[in-house]
Amino acid sequence: MSRRTQKPFCDPENLQGQFLTPTLGRRLIVFNRITSTNGFLKRLARRGAATGTLVLADQQTAGRGRLGRQWQSPPAAGLWFSMLLRPRLATEFTGALSLIISAVIADGLSAICKCSFYVKWPNDVLYRNLKVCGILCEAQFSAGTKLTDAHSKLDYVVAGIGININQRPDDFKPEWRKRATSLSMITGEPMDRQNVLVNLVQRLDAALFGNLAESMPALLSRWRALCPQLGKQVALQQPHATIHGFFEDIGEGGELILRLRDGKRRAFLAGEVSVAK
Ligand code: BTN
Repeated sequence: MSRRTQKPFCDPENLQGQFLTPTLGRRLIVFNRITSTNGFLKRLARRGAATGTLVLADQQTAGRGRLGRQWQSPPAAGLWFSMLLRPRLATEFTGALSLIISAVIADGLSAICKCSFYVKWPNDVLYRNLKVCGILCEAQFSAGTKLTDAHSKLDYVVAGIGININQRPDDFKPEWRKRATSLSMITGEPMDRQNVLVNLVQRLDAALFGNLAESMPALLSRWRALCPQLGKQVALQQPHATIHGFFEDIGEGGELILRLRDGKRRAFLAGEVSVAK
């Protein structure tokens, strides 16, 4: 079958019919294969695509993770999708979006798999200490401005979500085998990717596409309740240093707040956290 006539890996109309959401997925674009759903949706966003546009792919050939990392996205194995948000939100809250999305997904996966999923700062969903889902939020601010400019305005956010669904241990690269898992490895049975997506889209729509500024504090509280590292001594790995401190809280913009050994409170925007041994 030529690529032109190849049938999509799922029936987009049937899938969209199951969403029952006012905003998320009202426009749905499905690919068998694409470089990156985030990359594609960013191009659509620049051309004015509507909030709630959803892009889903069976396989990504250049899936991207945080900090310029690759994201393995083989066919038939996971859910690789991106959603477009145009929230009315002060720019300083932008960094909190990946946290609240991870909390919504952790709750959704717990309900679907009937076991507990957790969050890890800033953008992971874990089962025990194994990564199941990663989130990559890419924000665009109004012409020529940056997050740190006083007059900047949030134009849009492309939130990309990757969830390991049906991989077996051997499907992960050796360096990931001890750090990642999939829903089918957790439940012991194959999982229907569309059912998982429909459930999560419902939850994400309800959480993210109403008055986000109003619902943000409650969503951040939910994140705190789902984060086992909060309230513990942690090590924060940064490119050139490891910082030790007590994980005291997260800020309104999603920043990690540590109480350092000298008693000072400091906020961090990036890094890899682990509980100190
Ligand atoms: C991370 O944990 O580093 C974030 C991973 C985000 C992966 C998703 S898969 C769908 C979307 N498209 C991408 O290229 N990346 C995100």
